[in-house]
Parts: sequence; C-alpha cells; structure tokens
Amino acid sequence: MPHFISLADISATDLRSILDDAHAMKAARKGQSKGSTDPTPALNGDTLAMIFEKASTRTRFSFEQGMRQLGGTSIVAGADQMQLGRGESVADTARVLSRFVDAVMIRSNAHSTITGFAEHADVPVINGLSDHNHPCQIMADLQTLEERGLDLSTATLAWIGDGNNVLASFVNAAPAFGFELRISSPAGYRLDENPITAGLIAAARAKGAVIKNSLSPDEAADGADALITDCWVSMGDTDKAERIAALTPYQIDAALMRKAAPNATFLHCLPAYREQEMTTDVLEGPQSAVWDEAENRLHAQKAVVKWCLS
Ligand code: CP
Ligand code: NVA
Repeated sequence: MPHFISLADISATDLRSILDDAHAMKAARKGQSKGSTDPTPALNGDTLAMIFEKASTRTRFSFEQGMRQLGGTSIVAGADQMQLGRGESVADTARVLSRFVDAVMIRSNAHSTITGFAEHADVPVINGLSDHNHPCQIMADLQTLEERGLDLSTATLAWIGDGNNVLASFVNAAPAFGFELRISSPAGYRLDENPITAGLIAAARAKGAVIKNSLSPDEAADGADALITDCWVSMGDTDKAERIAALTPYQIDAALMRKAAPNATFLHCLPAYREQEMTTDVLEGPQSAVWDEAENRLHAQKAVVKWCLS
C-alpha cells in the first residue's frame, strides 16, 4: 500500500517523480480559476477523508482544493467530532473509513496514530503532520526551492531554530535529493535530543546524506542557498517561555541572511510569529519565498495523492 507517512520510507525515484509531477501540474493549470478542475483531471471522483486532531489552515484548504482540482472530492472531520474522540479505536476507524473513501489524510498528535491507522487501513494513508514529521510540507518546500533555480543535488540548506517535526522531514529527504543539510538548534531543542526523532540523522547519514549538526547559526548560514526555520512553539509544546528564551539567539534576521549565499531563499512553513523565529523584514523581504511555499502545498500534495492512488 503506497502510504505517504515518512519521506524516509519512499524511494528517491518516487520522490523525484512526485516533485516533477507537482511542477508539471502547476504549470499545466496556470491562469485557470482556482476551483476549476485540471486540464486533464487525474481522478474520477476519488475521495480523500481528512482527520484533524490539531488546528490547520494550509493543510486543510490545500488538500480540499487539490482534490477538487484533481477531479476528486474530500470529507473533513475533527477527531473530536468523530467517535474516535469518544474512545473508538484507531484500528476500527481505519477499517470503517476504508469502506467509504479512497485515501485518508491524518494530522495527529502522536505519530503512532497515523502508523496505527495505516496498519489497519485498506487504503493509502497520508501524514498531514504529526509530532514526528511533516512530509507534505517538505515536498512543497523542495518544489519552491527548485522554482527558484536551485539544483537540490548540489544545494546547501540551513535549518536554524527548533529541532522539530518539520526539520525531521528535511532530514528524511536529504539522502533522496542529495542536498547538504546544516542544522543549528540550541541544546535541549535538538532533533536527536527528542526521543521521538532521535536516530533520524544517523539513519539519513547511513543512506549517504551530508548532515552537519549542532552548528552555530553563523556556521549554518555561511554561504547557504536557503535559510529555513519554523515557529519556536509547535502545537502540543507546553514549555513556551523556556523555548523562547533558548531559541532567541537562533532568530533569522537580516544580518544572518547576509551571511548566506547572495539571493539565498528564506523558507518558513507558516504560521509565522514575527520577531520570534525571524524578523519581519526577513519574512516580508525579497528573499522570502513563504507565499509560494504555502501555495505549493496545493501542487505538491496533488502529486502525493496521485502517487498514493496510482
Ligand atoms: N504549514 C502547515 O502545515 O500549515 P497548517 O498548520 O496551517 O496546515
Ligand atoms: N512545527 C509546527 C508546524 C506547523 C505547521 C507544529 O507542529 O506546530
């Protein structure tokens, strides 16, 4: 079953073809109204169910509109509106939804909810973000960098900030796409220090990825092609004050952007918290690609859905 749960589990060839398809589908519908179906719709009424245990703006709207553009349809529910929220098991929910829909996207608190669902589902399952990773986001991010002319096989990407679920998917993508990944996160907030994501860097390195970890923000930024960050307080994090204190030296500002390559791209998956993880001038500046990045969720996920259903 072609589940899209972790980029580490999908072949480099398949990830490359998903990205190529995302570029092609975006180009093919240029100028069309946003709700119209693609010139050659890939689906014929296939239905994606979406279950949200946490808030979402981009993931929800992009998947819904993406299914419409593909010629499919979607059904959305908050987990708290389902019997899941009253104790029905993930396994039973998976078996029942598999009778109604062609694929299921889940945004969960615990990653095990998604893997547990996939174990019992007869249809593909897509990870719409968990405490472990956020694979759809990174496909959109890589599409955005390629649109800006970057060759991922020779690029250097720098992550500066919290060692969180979004970073985990960059780590998982590194061996498949070949980019060098530099990571700068404060002690206490490093990917390897979190039991949920410990070992991901070693696994990516074992597959040949070049990952430089525990760098200072200056070392990470030096000549990099992209500086990337995310909010300092993710959904579910409870230690807000401590995080902000630890992460303040890791803010991306104009001075740090100047240390990167000329015309380096700034990425952020959004939502952004201005004057925390980045200054407003960086977020709103000419090197920021965050709005294209958000739009590309739509195109990248359409390609993911097609891959899952093909
Ligand atoms: N970047 C992202 O996943 O946004 P949402 O939480 O709004 O879906
Ligand atoms: N790291 C963030 C990403 C939000 C899209 C979170 O998990 O809340």
